[in-house]
Amino acid sequence: MKFSVISTVASLAIVGPAVAQTPPGFSPATTKTFTVKFGSTAVTGGNAVKLEDTAVAPTIDFGDVSDNSAHVVTMLDLDAPMGDADRSYSPLLHWLASIPAGGKSSATAKDVAPYAGPQPPVGYGPHRYVLLLLTDPSADFHLPPGFENQTYSDVTSRLAFPLDKFLAAGNFQVTAANWFTTENTTATSTNSTGPTNSSTTSTSAPVTAGASSLQASVIGALFALMSLPIFLL
Ligand SMILES: *[C@@H]1O[C@H](CO)[C@@H](O)[C@H](O)[C@H]1NC(C)=O
Ligand SMILES: *[C@@H]1O[C@H](CO)[C@@H](O)[C@H](O)[C@H]1NC(C)=O
Ligand SMILES: *[C@@H]1O[C@H](CO)[C@@H](O)[C@H](O)[C@H]1NC(C)=O
Ligand SMILES: *[C@@H]1O[C@H](CO)[C@@H](O)[C@H](O)[C@H]1NC(C)=O
Repeated sequence: MKFSVISTVASLAIVGPAVAQTPPGFSPATTKTFTVKFGSTAVTGGNAVKLEDTAVAPTIDFGDVSDNSAHVVTMLDLDAPMGDADRSYSPLLHWLASIPAGGKSSATAKDVAPYAGPQPPVGYGPHRYVLLLLTDPSADFHLPPGFENQTYSDVTSRLAFPLDKFLAAGNFQVTAANWFTTENTTATSTNSTGPTNSSTTSTSAPVTAGASSLQASVIGALFALMSLPIFLL
């Protein structure tokens, strides 16, 4: 027992600790990462990215992290709709694209679920967004059994995305990952020139009573926007 601990530590010292490239607690985890950039802003292991930088799909590049197989890239919100207050929509599918065999970047990506930028609601903290690079065993991407009729044009079809089922149905292997956080830090306008008081809105400490009304408005907005490629999440 003691010996195996020592030898594990020794081997870590040689190769370096394998750091998960997925958020803590996320499964499936991987220690491999790939390049994800919003414009010139790189995503690196949970860094905070400005919300305005995330409006357009990131570019990705996986070089020799993987082989010349076909791939799938996806981006999921793990904190939809309201982080610790409510994760019932998580993971929320923000992007799903296929990359044909031989492609190593988003240059040849084809959207399956077109990219929709993050829209975390004000006051519930940063959301975590994970990007997964999946190896696709088939030569020509097709949605796997059970998903074949999905167009992902409707917001509700993107809520609580059944990732494990999707991976199993398509035999997709998680090959690399990256993740970031972003937050809407827009102060809720009080339009007051005087000192603020307790009835002015706080952006950092939502009260529980506010949560249910925000949830209702988020749900209402989701249904209202069902056919539009935008989110409140
Ligand atoms: C941030 O929140 C404000 C207030 O709800 C909203 O008007 C604005 O559109 C949000 N910004 C983004 C980029 O979603
Ligand atoms: C997809 O659509 C076809 C034709 O309408 C239908 O037969 C099939 O059951 C559907 N599959 C799923 C998973 O809903
Ligand atoms: C407050 O509201 C008034 C009236 O709508 C507007 O003219 C003014 O520009 C607002 N001030 C701020 C700081 O938003
Ligand atoms: C706090 O703000 C509310 C809304 O603007 C106002 O009705 C109330 O009188 C204010 N209270 C104090 C103590 O300033």
